Amino acid sequence: MTGTTHDHRRVITIDGPVAAGKSTVARELADRVGATLFDTGTLYRAVTLAALRREIDPGASDELAELAMTRRIDIARPTPGTGRLYDVSLDGEDVTELIRDPAVDRHVSAVSAHPAVRAALLPVQRDIASRGTVVMVGRDTGSVVVPNAGLKVYLDASPDERARRRHAEIVARGGELTYDEVLADLRRRDAFDATREASPLTVADGAVVIRSDGKTVAALVAEIAALALDRWERSAAAGDAA
Ligand code: DC
Repeated sequence: MTGTTHDHRRVITIDGPVAAGKSTVARELADRVGATLFDTGTLYRAVTLAALRREIDPGASDELAELAMTRRIDIARPTPGTGRLYDVSLDGEDVTELIRDPAVDRHVSAVSAHPAVRAALLPVQRDIASRGTVVMVGRDTGSVVVPNAGLKVYLDASPDERARRRHAEIVARGGELTYDEVLADLRRRDAFDATREASPLTVADGAVVIRSDGKTVAALVAEIAALALDRWERSAAAGDAA
């Protein structure tokens, strides 16, 4: 996959496996450095929701790609007081909670594995990456979407730690899955995302690997913000010298 010609020095990409803490860290990081937050998983989730509603098979690549090209998916700042990380709309309808539905969880990996779906969603992601200071979250944002980002982070954590966090979130939302069920699902999704042919989850060239085990969100945000500010200062100084 070729890179883009845009200047992406002020783009920070955060990729990593399920429940490594990417979205929460990214929200605070974006606020700290004055960036737009773009969680690319929401695109795949919104397409999956649209497909489920139309009873399109998660294996029907062409129909899914058509949906990805024609549905209008917007990600905006969170409605105040909702505790959300962002608002997501699908053709104007607020689907922020609906895209977290267990049915979407079950099918989103299959939908996102289609090269045609990924290709359809690539221009949308690159367009947003070109809007200046942006924190992008996903699986392939540093390896495929914005390979020339100013800072690329791969956020990882042990399966146990990630399952504990995801289980606590599910219980807080009233869900009834056990810890063991959550751990098994997480391992299944990790294996699927890392072994699929199209843009598998991988550490991008030049990415900084950070393990979130035992670290607070505040500490992770401080660590990544310091790396980003250092890169931005250096590239500004290099620009001045040129
Ligand atoms: O991060 P998440 O759980 O919201 O992601 C949902 C799904 O989308 C997950 O199965 C991986 C996939 N995804 C992807 O393939 N590429 C991305 N850049 C982001 C998410």
